[in-house]
Amino acid sequence: MDKKATLTLNDGKSLDFPVLSGSIGPEVIDIRTLYAKSGMFTYDPGFLSTASCNSSITYIDGDAGVLLYRGYPIEQLAQHCDFLETCYLLLNGELPNARDKDAFVSTVTRHTMVHDQLTRFFTGFRRDAHPMAVLVGVVGALSAFYHDSLDINNPEHRKISAFRLIAKLPTIVAMAYKYNTGQPFVYPRNDLSYSANFMRMMFAVPAEEYKVNPVLVRALDRILILHADHEQNASTSTVRLSGSSGANPFACIAAGIACLWGPAHGGANEAALNMLEEIGDASKIPEFIKQVKDKNSGSKLMGFGHRVYKNYDPRAKLMRETCHEVLNELGLQNDRLFKLAMALEKVALEDEYFVSRKLYPNVDFYSGIVQRALGIPVSMFTCIFSLARTVGWIAQWNEMISDPEQKIGRPRQLYKGAARREVQPIDKR
Ligand code: CMC
Repeated sequence: MDKKATLTLNDGKSLDFPVLSGSIGPEVIDIRTLYAKSGMFTYDPGFLSTASCNSSITYIDGDAGVLLYRGYPIEQLAQHCDFLETCYLLLNGELPNARDKDAFVSTVTRHTMVHDQLTRFFTGFRRDAHPMAVLVGVVGALSAFYHDSLDINNPEHRKISAFRLIAKLPTIVAMAYKYNTGQPFVYPRNDLSYSANFMRMMFAVPAEEYKVNPVLVRALDRILILHADHEQNASTSTVRLSGSSGANPFACIAAGIACLWGPAHGGANEAALNMLEEIGDASKIPEFIKQVKDKNSGSKLMGFGHRVYKNYDPRAKLMRETCHEVLNELGLQNDRLFKLAMALEKVALEDEYFVSRKLYPNVDFYSGIVQRALGIPVSMFTCIFSLARTVGWIAQWNEMISDPEQKIGRPRQLYKGAARREVQPIDKR
């Protein structure tokens, strides 16, 4: 054993465990033999101190505010690459050269249509259903349409499923929106980029051609890059846990979407925008700040704080910049909510409560304002996040299946319920 950690128990017995090193980041104590050696488990609700897997995809240094995809800083990817190059990187480990990129883009582009029967699936939902409810259902249903690629032990099948998911999610998300609004579905156009095609499927109507605005398309593409992966967060862990049983990729991604829906995770940008609307005016900021600092109020400053980042989220910086670009392009420099958000950020960053707890803006603080400016309704925000995160989920799922150390996920517990007791006949209870 090269490096070890020693656990000393109350009876004086000492147990040694190997210490494993990653390429960067904290070392981990390998406690796989803990139960066999001591008869004890570890207790770690919310997995605050537990590494659940090996991964080579994404790395976060929360104290320094660093996010790397396959070693590349998010700032450089957001500046020099588009979303599909980022997808290629996350899936394959390297950035594509021009020839690889062409082939990748062409394959994704040629999988954007969905089976026509799938369009009927939408009509089973109420028109006013939340688009995330529709998305969970429709993505889960994909396994009923694409049986030919469901053998998870076949790398070729996994690859086809990955292409299908990345290519079809924009089509399905746009269809969920169109169904909601009562407009006809718009079919994909293969001569447009991934993000331009998505915006057209969202906003075109048969009566009028949709004009692509490159600044807005670039902003959407950037949102997708910034949300593409984020280590072992709740939804990614959900995808891995679902996949650990051998479930098919469409079912696993549907599980990830369901997890992402929660307001503490993917629903935060929707919650942040609603919060800004609720505050309404800069004069109400002090009162609101007082409220979120009161633990009994049940409210939080949405878009602030992060389990891993204890510094300014690097994605939030880029999103703030994108927000400026989009609002300038649309002549909305004086946007009410953007001004309110900046004022709120300033107050919070100077407040002892937030400073001492290292609570900084996260990506969701500004992404809602950008999406709203792009014309995306609040109810669609988490769908856009799901669309972006699909590549991360698929890359992580694929990595898990290919890992020889992979086991079905099965956490233990500290049982605090009744000890064994006998069932009494009903008249004696
Ligand atoms: N507003 C007010 N107080 C907060 C906030 C907030 N946004 N976030 C954390 N705190 C307080 C919390 O009450 C606790 O205080 P104390 O130590 O006095 O009990 C302290 O800060 C530490 O918080 P925590 O809950 O232990 O931190 P966590 O790592 O478990 O939670 C979080 C992280 C993201 C769930 C939480 O910060 C939060 O609910 N933020 C608002 C929702 C949000 O913006 N979520 C988006 C996350 S980024 C998108 C993504 O990656 O999915």
